[in-house]
Amino acid sequence: MGAFERVLMRAFGRPEGVLGRLGGTVMARMNQPCAAWTIGLLEIRENDRALEIGFGPGAGIQLLAAAAPSGHVDGIDPSQEMLEQATARNAAAIARGRVSLRIGSVERLPFEDNTFDKVLAINSMQVWPDSETALAEIRRAMKTRGAVALGFTAYSGQQPGGLIERLTAAGFVGAKLVETDKASCMLAVKA
Ligand SMILES: C[S@@+](CC[C@H](N)C(=O)[O-])C[C@H]1O[C@@H](n2cnc3c(N)ncnc32)[C@H](O)[C@@H]1O
Repeated sequence: MGAFERVLMRAFGRPEGVLGRLGGTVMARMNQPCAAWTIGLLEIRENDRALEIGFGPGAGIQLLAAAAPSGHVDGIDPSQEMLEQATARNAAAIARGRVSLRIGSVERLPFEDNTFDKVLAINSMQVWPDSETALAEIRRAMKTRGAVALGFTAYSGQQPGGLIERLTAAGFVGAKLVETDKASCMLAVKA
């Protein structure tokens, strides 16, 4: 990885230190519309149990909690800096027991099998080191008929090509791509 890529990773990919703090502030503003659009596509029900992977500064967690007012929202992210920002942004919902955030990685989700109705990741998959293991883990933690959404802004660097095949190979059904000029989203269901 070159110097520029290392800076991008510290700011956005796996935020750390001062760059990570700044990156979190930028992402909370820039990625929130993509999170709102993706959550709309997921058709969250009011009592859903939902998981956001790679929650970053926690703007998506806020939207998920609002979409499932009688449900529960979990989040995992490997970045301590992002955990702090997301915790501050969601302090009231955490205090009410409606949101739980923790350090973790998609390759090893700290949840039982068949836990979630909905799983979401925004601009995160492109930095996962092993997407095959990640998709298998997501499927394991989802309930049957649960839905997953992988959302990407147009500037994420993720190419949608091949994602339908990767989701299908991981055992999901009905994988489809929804695109606008600003964002794209892969949706799929656990049969
Ligand atoms: C570009 S940021 C996007 C943050 C947020 N979802 C947003 O849209 O603003 C990518 C996030 O994925 C997290 N991440 C990186 N590697 C991960 C992994 N292996 N498992 C889960 N999350 C990861 C990073 O710490 C970071 O918060």
